[in-house]
Parts: sequence; C-alpha cells; structure tokens
Amino acid sequence: MISEHLLPSSRFEHARLAVFANSQEASRAVAAEIAALIRQRRTEGRTAVLGLATGSTPVSLYAELVRLHREQGLSFANVVTFNLDEYHPLPPEHPQSYHAFMRAQLFDHVDVPKESIHIPSGSVSKDRIEAHCAAYEEQIKAAGGIDFQILGIGRTGHIGFNEPGSPRRSVTRRVTLDPLTRRDAAADFGGEAHTPRAALTMGVRTILSARRVVLMAWGQHKADIVRTAIEGDATAQVTASFLQEHDNAAFILDQAAASGLTRFRTPWLLGPLAEQELAWDDRMTRRAILWLSNLRRKAVLKLTDDDYNEAGLQDLLAVHGSAYDCNLVGFYQLQHTITGWPGGRDPSRTKPGDALVRPLKSPSANVFPKRVLVLSPHPDDDVISMGGTLCRLVDQGHEVHVAYQVSGSGAVPDEALWRSLQFLRDADGRRDERVTALCDVFEETGSLPAAPEIARLKALIRRHEAAAAARVCGVPKDRLHFLDLPFYDSGPARARRLGPADVEITRTLLSQLRPHLIYAAGDLDDPHGTHRLCLRILRDALAGLAQESWLNESELWLYRGAWAEWPLDEIDLAVPLSPQEVERRRRAIFRHSTQKDEVVFPGPDQREFWERADERGQRLARSYNDLGLAEYESMEAFKRYAPADFVARAPL
Ligand code: F6R
Repeated sequence: MISEHLLPSSRFEHARLAVFANSQEASRAVAAEIAALIRQRRTEGRTAVLGLATGSTPVSLYAELVRLHREQGLSFANVVTFNLDEYHPLPPEHPQSYHAFMRAQLFDHVDVPKESIHIPSGSVSKDRIEAHCAAYEEQIKAAGGIDFQILGIGRTGHIGFNEPGSPRRSVTRRVTLDPLTRRDAAADFGGEAHTPRAALTMGVRTILSARRVVLMAWGQHKADIVRTAIEGDATAQVTASFLQEHDNAAFILDQAAASGLTRFRTPWLLGPLAEQELAWDDRMTRRAILWLSNLRRKAVLKLTDDDYNEAGLQDLLAVHGSAYDCNLVGFYQLQHTITGWPGGRDPSRTKPGDALVRPLKSPSANVFPKRVLVLSPHPDDDVISMGGTLCRLVDQGHEVHVAYQVSGSGAVPDEALWRSLQFLRDADGRRDERVTALCDVFEETGSLPAAPEIARLKALIRRHEAAAAARVCGVPKDRLHFLDLPFYDSGPARARRLGPADVEITRTLLSQLRPHLIYAAGDLDDPHGTHRLCLRILRDALAGLAQESWLNESELWLYRGAWAEWPLDEIDLAVPLSPQEVERRRRAIFRHSTQKDEVVFPGPDQREFWERADERGQRLARSYNDLGLAEYESMEAFKRYAPADFVARAPL
C-alpha cells in the first residue's frame, strides 16, 4: 500500500511522497488503492470516478489493473472515467491519439461501460472548443467530481498538458504544447514536424478538485523536475508543484525519479538529526567530497578543515580526523576509477607494479583475453557512447561482440531510404518494379508509406551502417549480432511493451557467449524510452540465467551516452582517450549517415551525435582535471554492477 511507503517529511520537501524500489512495485501499490476504492464504492452501490492519464508512466499501472480484473475479478462496471487530455486536432482513431492509447492499454481489456468513458475530443471543430471544454467540466461535476486522479509529470513540470504559465485557477481548455513536450512526443509521431502543436487539457483547478491525487514518476530523466516540483515553491512555472497545496496528494516515485531529492542526493544538508543516521560509506564520502569541491571550486586535495566545517560536513571530518585524510579518501577513489585497460591487462606484457585489473572485481578479472559483449540499444549507441572504449578493448586483444538490440528503423528518414532505392534502381540494367514504384511514390509525395516492407528496408540500412562503424572499431562481422527485438515494432514509442520473446532472444545470446564483461546502455534519458526497455529486458534475461555459474564471474558495466553522463560520484570506471582515439570514434559515428544532419529524434539537444559525444567526453575529462587529477583529452565513463545485484536493484 502507498501509505506504508510514505516518507516522514523533511524540511526541504513541501509535498508528501512515497518511494518504491521500482516502478512495477509502485504501480502495484497505486493499483491496489484504486481497486480498494472501486470495491468499496461497489458495496455502497456508488460509482468510483477516476481521472486518468496517458503516456509511458501509467502503462504498468494499467497492466496491473487489467491483471486484477482478469485474475481477481475486479469489475469496472461501477467506474466512470475522465481522461486528462487529448491532442488537438487529432481524430480518435489516429493510432497516436489518447483515445487509441486508452483503448489499447485499459478500456479494451476491462468491463468499464462505454458510456462511462470521457476523453476530451481531438476532433471537435475550433469554434466548438470552448463549449466542449465547458461541457467536460460540467460532466465531471455531474458525475460527483473525481475521486482519484492519476497524473504523470512532463519534463516541463506539466500535469495534464498544463504547461509552464498555466494558472492555478485554470480549467479545461485548449493549450499550446511546450517545445520540450513536443520533442518528447516526437518519437510517437515519427518526428517533431508531425507532432501536434496543441491539446485540450483539464486545467490545474480541475485536477486539484479531485479528492485524491497521485502523481507517478519513474526514471532518472524525471529526477530534476520531480525535485523542483517537491522542493521548489508552488508556481505556475511548474504546475506539478501545485500538488503541494492539495491535502490528499502524493508523489509516487521509483528510486531513480527520487534520486535528485536533497534527502538522497545531499543528505548531510538535512541537519544534525538526519546526519546521525548517515552511513559514511565510500560512495557517500566521495559524493560529499565532490559536492564540496564543486561548492568551493577547489581541487579535492586543496580542501581544508574550514571548507568541511563551513559547509556542514563536520561529521565526515570527524570520521577521518582531518581534511587531509578525508581528501585522500575521495582522491584515491577517483584515481582508481581511471584505467586505460578496461578489460584488464595482458599479464604477459605487464611490468612489475602495473595495476593488472583495476577496477575489475569479478573472479574472472585476471582472465585474458576476455569475451566482451557490448549491448547497443540502437545501431549507433555503441560508438556514440563508448566508441573509444570499444576500440581499446579490440586493440588490446579481447574477443569483442556487439549486439544491436532494436533495428532502429523508426529513425531513418524516408528521404534516406529513397536515396538507396534510387541507387538500386539505377545501378544495373535489371529494373526491379517494386523499387521503381517506391521511388516514384517518394518523388511524387515526398514520403514513403509506413508499411512493414519500408521498416524492413530501413532496418537494413541501419544494419549496414552499424557494420561499417564496427569495422572502423575493428570488430569483425561475425561478432555482430542483430537481435531485432520484437518490442520495438509493438506500437507507438511510448506505449511499447516488452514481451517474453525479447527476453528469450537476449537470454539465448548471453547464454551462448558467456561474456566476462557485459556493457549495456544505462542511459535512461533517451526521449523514446527504448533504452529503458532494453535495460529491463537485460535485467529479466539475467534473472533467467541466475542458475548459470558463469554469470557470477562476469561484470556488467553500464554506459550513458548522447543524452546524459553519469554523475561523478557514481562512476566506477573512466577510460581516458587520446585525441587520435576521439578522432577514430568520430569516424565510427559518421558511418551512421542516416543519423547525421537530420536527426529524427534529437530530444531536447539539437546537436549531432558526434558533437554530443565529443563534448560529453571533454567535459568529463575537464571535471576530473578540475578535481586535481591528470588532464586527458576525453574520457568515457561506466558504472559497475555484479549481474545478480543488478537484477535485484536495477534503477528501472
Ligand atoms: C498524459 C499527460 C501528461 C503525461 C506527462 C508524462 O495524459 O497528461 O501530463 O503524464 O507528459 O509523460 P510520460 O509518462 O510519457 O513521461
């Protein structure tokens, strides 16, 4: 139940919150509360009025409600629903409409009466919008008001589509979408150009009139905005912050979404009471020292007793006795993350005194050469995110395999495919009618049909690009694995669900290769959610391999890439790169030519991927240097997990 996970309030937080180990557990708790409400109302002969949200956040909640309906006979016959919003204009039958989303995720699988379902209409004509919105408000009132309102939070801090600037008193109306919201939705619509600019949404007042309000947020990419909504002032700039003013509202978070809160990020700021309970383990110590170093703009070894005392870190100082000793703890931790031999050294070629395997820890740390599996969600994530390390592993003699998890066909512009088709059409005398016909379609209409045939051809283009990039890195063709995980084609980007086949394909590959080192994308900020699903699939595949002894000998290293970098205190391995290696990584990224110049899903950052990779690596190298460590051209960073630990506490 949610109540069991509510945290005692801290002086930084202005709203109630409950933190769960992961989104599945949290969704189960929310579903249980909703189910209890529905059942209670049924015994009273009354309806339960639910306010519903769409997007990726409630997908697991709806799956759980469907499960309760099927397995425990939870009936929705006495349920009345009001959805928060709908794009405008967008017909209800459009696959990306919220009408379609709700049918697919919930309504088609439970017994809620059709006439009890309300969703703002995306097809109402402009001159009728005002009346339609007013009628929506009336319908909510006539139903007795909303009993239980479910919310997600957008990265602009919106609830519903109440973008920054939406007043506290706003009601159901037409709104213009924020550019960031449109970029986040672009994956669903095949690019920003096709993404609606407006929506009809319940207002802030409509939402806050509900008797119970539950805002759910999952994942690292929500951590900043969640913190602002909970710890900042209640303001129209972040409409989720208005939940602070509701006396029966709660934020339901997974650990990753909660990780930006002061109580988790910088707990020593909570004051003496909380500090007594603080366990100053290595990680927390490093975090505090890095925070202090940043605050004082000083290299770690230059921090003084005064710096610690004035910033409220007396307790940490007391643990180590002096700033000098404390600084060394942080400094050595950082120094030990750096190695140019990410797979360990060749023992036959090392000099006495060389650190052989730092920072590898598994029982197979000394094995040389190692079998390495790099899991790349899209065909270009490997080189964008860890291209330098990939080259090093190959050059240093390890057996490196790369598995591309999804086809990435959705990110190939029609025009790029047309260029290849045109080449095919004109390359030799044998005229393939289908190819010619497709060229004609593109030349006449400027686009190609969204058919499986087109997706297959686009996937092929990306395969060739990946193979060319892998060649730059020296990975032979027979070590490339194109998994084409089926979830990728299972629906609109944000409503995709993983299935047993995704897990089985991944499990089989792992079991065949038995890698000593597994690299995977832990970059959960990608705007389309594919990385998150790929990581979940890996977690489930590893869980299925728990009995295989080789797994205890392997290590899992998570990389981040185009969208975000690991915070410095979480880095376990930092691989320095020379200018030549940066150049080679860039060449590998360039092989993904369909992803150059015109990125279909750039997310909030408009730069090309090679620019982001360059900048990210340089920034990290500069941070290490600012802390007083050696000055490198660039670095790539990784966080370590023992596979069994990852299965137990993956940040998903
Ligand atoms: C959806 C809605 C939005 C989403 C928010 C988060 O009906 O009104 O406020 O809840 O944009 O979207 P996801 O869950 O996809 O991150």
